[in-house]
Amino acid sequence: MAYKIVLLGGDGIGPEIIPAAVEVLDAVAPGQLEYEEHLFGGAAIDAHGTPLTDATLAACRHADAVLLAAAGGPKWDTTEPGLPRPEQGLLSLRKELGLFANLRPVRPLPALYEASPLKRELIEHTDLLVVRELTGGIYFGEKTRTDSRASDACVYTRAEIERIARVAFAAARSRVTSVDKANILETSRLWREVVREVHGNEFPNIEVEHVLVDTAAMRLVAAPRHFEVILTDNMFGDILSDEAAMLTGSIGLLPSASLGETPPGLFEPVHGSAPDIAGTGTANPLAMILSAALMLRRGLRLEPQALAIESAVDKALAEGLRTPDLGGDATTAQATRAVLEHL
Ligand code: IPM
Ligand code: MG
Repeated sequence: MAYKIVLLGGDGIGPEIIPAAVEVLDAVAPGQLEYEEHLFGGAAIDAHGTPLTDATLAACRHADAVLLAAAGGPKWDTTEPGLPRPEQGLLSLRKELGLFANLRPVRPLPALYEASPLKRELIEHTDLLVVRELTGGIYFGEKTRTDSRASDACVYTRAEIERIARVAFAAARSRVTSVDKANILETSRLWREVVREVHGNEFPNIEVEHVLVDTAAMRLVAAPRHFEVILTDNMFGDILSDEAAMLTGSIGLLPSASLGETPPGLFEPVHGSAPDIAGTGTANPLAMILSAALMLRRGLRLEPQALAIESAVDKALAEGLRTPDLGGDATTAQATRAVLEHL
């Protein structure tokens, strides 16, 4: 029986890069995947008045994995509290599917060392994983708003910290860097305490260090090789993962996996909907294609197929494939073909 994959193209370049992922998936797993496409984000707001309809959510719940491109754009940007926002669709999807663990691997490729704004000797051999808590913290705490005052509560429970800490330690070979702001925030002090406990009780053989988020941000560009697994909360993880993405030269290369206790997981590029280049056919599809590979590995346990895609991407880049974000002029279609040629 084929795996059921829900495709959410979303907005901006999203609907242009989803077909690239599907082509590549069909090349490595012919006949093994069955797709169902749904509107999401701004596109769903336009059609249905909400970024995530009940029908789309139900389809996701019944899928083996969800592949999402990007949501949002200037058309739906508003500071008006009452109006629907595309990003809410993403937050609801994460919450409703219980996707508490967001994994963002960052591994600059030798072929792209020159594309990074950082010096080659700094980024060489960097291979890190950001493990970001995804369904708690300031993203989901109570919000208040009047004309003259606004607040966002940051809340974490012991159980929420325990389960994400376990994901990080389990993913580490030797070291976990837990990032918080324990000199200021109460949630961070609980975070630190619980991470210490999980470490001592369950993973004593892994080294753990606790680093304040401002220091971590600095070290990430000063000495990225130092990091193996970065374990952090929702907000800090959002910021640090964009920072870490720049080590690879372009955010257009970074995939991510969002996982819960059970499938389906959600797989999506770290980048956004890039409205400025939507419709030009020049979006870099590699993060989307690599997200599909991550889906095969983490969502469907099809490791050889995942590896095949990743090495095809590596080879295409080594042979000189460069989309505009990497300083070249390859189109989305050309980039996709370059990957397919190596499969
Ligand atoms: C991300 C994005 C989202 C986030 C937005 C689009 C809601 O920036 O996945 O990193 O803040 O989590
Ligand atoms: Mg982000």
